[in-house]
Amino acid sequence: MTQDEMKKQAAWAALEFIPHNTIVGVGTGSTVNHFIDALASIKQHIKGAVSSSVQSTAKLEALGIPVFDLNNIDSFSVYIDGADEINPLKHMVKGGGAALTREKIVAAVAERFICIVDSSKQVATLGQFPLPVEVVPMALAYVQRQLNKLGGKAILRKNVITDNGNVILDVHGLQITDPLALEFTINNIVGVVSNGIFAHRAANTVLIGTATGTTIIN
Ligand code: A5P
Repeated sequence: MTQDEMKKQAAWAALEFIPHNTIVGVGTGSTVNHFIDALASIKQHIKGAVSSSVQSTAKLEALGIPVFDLNNIDSFSVYIDGADEINPLKHMVKGGGAALTREKIVAAVAERFICIVDSSKQVATLGQFPLPVEVVPMALAYVQRQLNKLGGKAILRKNVITDNGNVILDVHGLQITDPLALEFTINNIVGVVSNGIFAHRAANTVLIGTATGTTIIN
């Protein structure tokens, strides 16, 4: 089974967690693209979606799923998104697709975060995947110096502007042994919009696509 087939398996398994007549939070990425295809197959049973990126909004609307403005919704039950890495405590690194800030916002409003991944995303310690940090452009050099002081090497992601008009620094070489502390430390650097550690808002449930089926971790 290919990695993409495992992503697809986890994505379709997420349908079981979608209540009827609800608004669904939708993340971003190749795994979520499979999920949006799956969601379209039950679109008559849901009210619509709130989206974490321009890319996901376009796909949702193309498939006839209404997309709501998050500011018009007090709460919703389930957010479905992928991850670049996930540890046994369900802390994640996200942002490989540069959508981390909107993903964090939508995830914050959701009652439950269901993470859909293929088995290659499981790690003991976060940090092998370079940590994405969204930065206001005028603060780029300052933030880069501050991130390098934390022990990593922050490299500007070329030719990428986020949906919010910002840039992304990818921090290589971090051993993220305390994701809760590092998430706050990086957020406190002036000029950082958000960072890709999702520890304070960890996943509640993980669906892992494997060669032998989907594993559910609660
Ligand atoms: C998007 O910014 C990311 O947070 C994605 O959720 C993450 O990169 C997973 O992407 P794939 O599903 O494409 O592996």
